[in-house]
Amino acid sequence: MKAIQINGQQLNWADAEAPQPGPGEVAIRVRATAINRADLAQRAGFYPPPPGASEILGLECAGEIQQLGEGVTGWKIGDAVCALLSGGGYAETVVCPAGHLLPKPENLSFEQAAALPEVFATAWLNIFQEAALQANESVLLHAGASGVGTAAIQLCRHFGNPCFVTASGQQKIDYCIELGADGGFDRSSGLSSDINSNINQDSFAEAVKTWRKDSDGKGVDVILDPVGGSYLSDNMSCLAVNGRLVLIGLMGGASADINLGLLMVKRFKLIGSTLRSRTDEQKSRLIQSLREQVWPLFDSGELKPIIHTTMPITEVEQGFALVESNQTIGKVVLTIP
Ligand SMILES: NC(=O)c1ccc[n+]([C@@H]2O[C@H](COP(=O)([O-])OP(=O)(O)OC[C@H]3O[C@@H](n4cnc5c(N)ncnc54)[C@H](OP(=O)(O)O)[C@@H]3O)[C@@H](O)[C@H]2O)c1
Repeated sequence: MKAIQINGQQLNWADAEAPQPGPGEVAIRVRATAINRADLAQRAGFYPPPPGASEILGLECAGEIQQLGEGVTGWKIGDAVCALLSGGGYAETVVCPAGHLLPKPENLSFEQAAALPEVFATAWLNIFQEAALQANESVLLHAGASGVGTAAIQLCRHFGNPCFVTASGQQKIDYCIELGADGGFDRSSGLSSDINSNINQDSFAEAVKTWRKDSDGKGVDVILDPVGGSYLSDNMSCLAVNGRLVLIGLMGGASADINLGLLMVKRFKLIGSTLRSRTDEQKSRLIQSLREQVWPLFDSGELKPIIHTTMPITEVEQGFALVESNQTIGKVVLTIP
């Protein structure tokens, strides 16, 4: 088979050995995959695959089942699926546990379905399971126009939870509001917007407090944060008593001073979370709950994949540069011939 091979820092579409499914696994003929930030870090040598995972890049895909391993039930050869992967998606064939498969929504193409697993699994896991978001609780989503952010906005909208975003540029803020956010803070200009107005504010923490002013300055209940160090102080400042701050990335640094007094007084929970390093069983449980509670919303059109652009996998270098530029809204999808 062909797969993307990392040669130094270069990505080449080259021959590789096709993986074989073991017991409980399936092989998928990959039609499309999608770029995740983690792929950029893996290419740069900062994010090695977990033990036992494929060395090939690619955390999600859509395609058809081409082979069933021993003991797999509930799926058949030819089924159209998408899958959450620990690696290996940038290839013609990938193997994963059958428990990590989701049916491709019938009304979506393979390209569209490849944009779903990683971001919806991340948003679902961290907002609804780790942070245990309750009815009517409010949510702050950093990098609101990212793949994860656009999935999270749609989930909040569907479940009736008000959300506020941060992103760079008015175009991204407007997009997030159209998708379902109440408002947003433009981290490049300091302008805060809601459906009715624009005001200049010093920080996203001030903007969130203004957004939540009708709740006696209570602050926001849940924050999904892929930024880390540079945002910790402002996150703590606008988090409500009993709030939950879920840290899923370190784009703004891995260290920060923490005001432990504020943590105690607000009695908030600081939760660190990675999806890729979880066990196969944990991921299977997550996929099962996603299948039951989220997947029907694609069939009904309530949720949709947000795709910035689609390109052939042979142009993956351009795709990485685009993601790295921070200009994308939603996903960059790669098609496989
Ligand atoms: N822990 C997990 O299990 C897990 C799983 C999936 C993803 N993630 C993380 O979630 C984040 C989003 O992933 P994605 O694939 O959806 O990303 P993406 O679509 O590539 O979007 C990332 C966005 O983050 C913003 N950003 C970049 N550097 C920043 C900085 N220093 N400070 C603040 N914002 C910054 C940029 O948007 P603006 O310029 O508009 O703000 C950028 O477009 C990544 O950090 C990723 O590693 C974690």
